[in-house]
This record gives sequence, structure tokens and C-alpha cells, in this order.
Amino acid sequence: MKDGTAMYERTEITPEQRQTMFACCERLRAQLGDRPRTACVDTYGCQQNESDSEILRGWLTQCGYRMTDDPMTADVVVVNTCAVRHHAEMRVLGNVGALVHARSRNPDMIVCVGGCMAQQEGMKKKLKESFRMVDLVFGPHELWQFPQLLEETIRRHGLRGNKGRLFAAAPCDGVVAEELPRQRDGSIKAWLSIMNGCNNFCTYCIVPYVRGRERSREPSRIEDECRELVRAGYRDITLLGQNVNSYGRGLDEKVDFPALLRRLDRIEGEYILRFMTSHPKDATEALFAAMAECEHTAHHIHLPLQSGSDRVLKAMNRHYDMAAYLEKVRLARQYMPDLVLTTDIIVGFPGETREEFDETLRAVEQVGFDAMFTFIYSPREGTPAAAMPDPVTRAEKQVWFDELTTLANRISAQKHAAYPGRTVRVLVDGKSGSDEWPLTSRTRGGRLVHLKGDESLIGTFADARITEAATWALFGEAL
Ligand code: 5AD
Ligand code: SF4
Repeated sequence: MKDGTAMYERTEITPEQRQTMFACCERLRAQLGDRPRTACVDTYGCQQNESDSEILRGWLTQCGYRMTDDPMTADVVVVNTCAVRHHAEMRVLGNVGALVHARSRNPDMIVCVGGCMAQQEGMKKKLKESFRMVDLVFGPHELWQFPQLLEETIRRHGLRGNKGRLFAAAPCDGVVAEELPRQRDGSIKAWLSIMNGCNNFCTYCIVPYVRGRERSREPSRIEDECRELVRAGYRDITLLGQNVNSYGRGLDEKVDFPALLRRLDRIEGEYILRFMTSHPKDATEALFAAMAECEHTAHHIHLPLQSGSDRVLKAMNRHYDMAAYLEKVRLARQYMPDLVLTTDIIVGFPGETREEFDETLRAVEQVGFDAMFTFIYSPREGTPAAAMPDPVTRAEKQVWFDELTTLANRISAQKHAAYPGRTVRVLVDGKSGSDEWPLTSRTRGGRLVHLKGDESLIGTFADARITEAATWALFGEAL
């Protein structure tokens, strides 16, 4: 993947470029006239994609579309795709393919494929040749240009063959786009993207190739957005980046992630600040100290371990070994005894042996993660790991995976068993749909608590007395 590894400068879009996009929105809105038109954004993958979809909805609303959840009846469908694992890709392609029927009922329908999968090498060709219902393909770094791409796609629509379609997804660049419209999904929880891209090149991972090089937003922009979120009543704000711990590199102002946390913490109000994801190699004592000292920061860290074997970690290009990881965990817990620690584990990395997998099981037991996201290794074309010998069968990997899941469940259940009788502070974030426990809430560390209490509590912080515990959730009553 030649394009994927290129280095380039960080550049912010200019006010003129932004103006051009808003002018496209105005023209599209005028074209639609009084006819009610609907648009649907279908999102796959991680929180960054969910955040990007909020911008797509912002643009579409700006263009005069009413948002709907039903892709089958929408006039514009945008599929915001994920490329991290093969499974996600197959789901996307299946669902895009299914739009062919909706399209034959509504020939004016515009189908757009954006996100990480669209940016993958070879995907444009595949969509061009085998998915003729797709009108527009664009990459994640082109989000800010969406109105222009959509306007051009609509202009071409109806032209014969490939002339009627638009294939953007140009090589990644270092663009940072500010002040884009955004239609947020909720009113209590909000995403706040602080950076984009990744420079780490873990050998199994496609992200650096499809999201490009790491680039950070200016701290003052992040601070303004965070202040505005708190003022608007958001109570749970998650700072997003592929590796938040390397925030600030390449900015004129000298500010690192712990400094950003401290700066945001000064914003007054009752809210929780979380962040995702932290690369263990860049998680420092300064970070743990900032987390412990800041009033608003959740005592939760998602620290993907990936494997418990030093040999496998090296083959993954992770830049830490088990001893270094354990030392970080020890330090973090020293600063925050109530720390909630979660992780990602990949099972069956090419060449991983049963003994090495056993090391992962031991590491998981030793660390005692509060929750784990576990994945069976999925080869991604163009990444170094995809070319490594991989003798273990899929069936065997599935057995290992199931063992890991059983262990994760046991650890979580053990941790939860200590909770009944305790009182914890929670943010009540919604309705559960159950009569017995009508509310859902989260502790500051992010544990799910099903709650008895009045609906008027939604959006507020409450003390909850825990009465029961299950493997992946707690149950309690609001006091
Ligand atoms: N196969 C399986 N899991 C992967 N992840 C990233 N790439 C792959 C892959 N090729 C997992 C990692 C990462 C999480 C977001 O997805 O565990 O931390
Ligand atoms: Fe992928 Fe590694 Fe970057 Fe995370 S840090 S996005 S796993 S390359």
C-alpha cells in the first residue's frame, strides 16, 4: 500500500474552502425546493465512525434532507464503512448489495459508500465493477468535502455507465477540518474528536493506511467545543483519537494529552470526560497523574494489550513487552485505586502458538481486566501480518477465543460480585425498556448499572445502591 505509508504536512481547511461547501449545500437545498427528501446514514465500526456520521448527518441536514433510519426508502443513503476486520466488510457489502431493490423502485436514489473500507486499496475497483448501485465512493479524510461530492454525484446521476458515478477516495492527506456542521446523536453523551489518523503501523492493522497520518486539532478548538457541549447539557464527553496519548505532535503550541486533559478539566460544570484509545507505549505516569487529579476525568482507561506474549507483541510491532505493560498498570492503579481497566485482545495472530496464547490467558488473569473486547485475527490485505505464515486453523482459533471469553466472563462476574450493598455514583443515561429496571446508567468508570428510579433522573447524576450483580451489568436503585 504505497499511498498508505506516505508522510505529509498537517493542513487546516481554509474559510474559503468551508464557504464553498456551504454554498453547495445552499444550491442542493434550492434544487430540492419544497419536495420532502430523506437521507439515511448507516454506520459500521468504531466510535470515530459514529462521530464522522454525525458530521455526514450535519451536512445532509444542511442540504435540506430530513434524516431517516430506513435506508430502503431514503433518497440518499450513505454507508459509513469499517475495514478493521473482514467480517465488518462482508456485512457492509451485503447491505450495500441489498439496496439494489430499493434503487430499482426509486431510480433517483443516490447510494454513497464512505469511511475506511472505501479508502482501502482495490475497493474502488471492486465497487466500480461489482456494485453498480453505488453512485459515490469517498474516504474518511474527504468528509469535509461531502456536499461538493454529493452535488457532483447528483449532477452526473442518469449519465450512462461509469460516467454517472463518482469515485473519490483520493490518497489520504493531512487535512484537519474545523467548524463543520454536526447533528449529534444523543443529548447526554457526546463524541469529541481530538485527532485523526495513526502513525503506529501495528502489523495487523489497516487503520494507518485508510485514515492516514496522525494529525491533532488545535487545543483551543477542542476546548471551545467541549465548553459548548457542557453548556448544551452534555454530561458524558468522550475524547476520540486512534491514539490519544500522542495528541499534540506537530502542533505549534506545545501541548500533550495530559496537558489537554488538565485544560479541559477547568471547564466548569457537572460532566465526565472519557477518552479512547490509549496506546500502552505512550501511556505515561504524567497521564495517570492528570487523570487522578482532574475532577472530571473518568477513572477508566482502555489500554489494548493485544497479546500476552512478548514474541507476538514484537511481531505485532507494539513497542512494549508484558513487563512494561504490567508496570503501567501498577502505576495507573497506584494513582487511581478505583481504576476501571479495559482492553482489546487479538486471538490467533499469524504464527501464534498454543503456548503463546496461554501467555495471553495468564496475562488477562494477572491484570484482571474489567472488560475485554476480543477479536479473532483477520488478515487485512496490504498489512505486513497478512503476508506472515498462519498455520493455526480458524476452528482452533475459535476454541481459543471461546476460552478467552469464558475467562473474561469469570473475571467480570468476580469483580461485580463485590458490588451488592455498595453505593456508587452514576450518570443516568436512558431508558432500558424493562419494567423492573426501567433506567440505564453508568458509573464514572463506565460500568453499566440497570436502575430502579424515576424517568426524571435521565440526564442527571445520582447515587445508586447496588442490589444485584450479573456478569456484565450491575442492578440497583436510585437513592
Ligand atoms: N484482526 C483482528 N482484530 C483487529 N484489530 C485491529 N485490526 C485487527 C485485525 N486485523 C482489533 C485490535 C484493535 C481493535 C480496535 O481492533 O484489537 O485494538
Ligand atoms: Fe491500528 Fe495500532 Fe494505530 Fe491502533 S495504534 S489504530 S491498532 S495501527
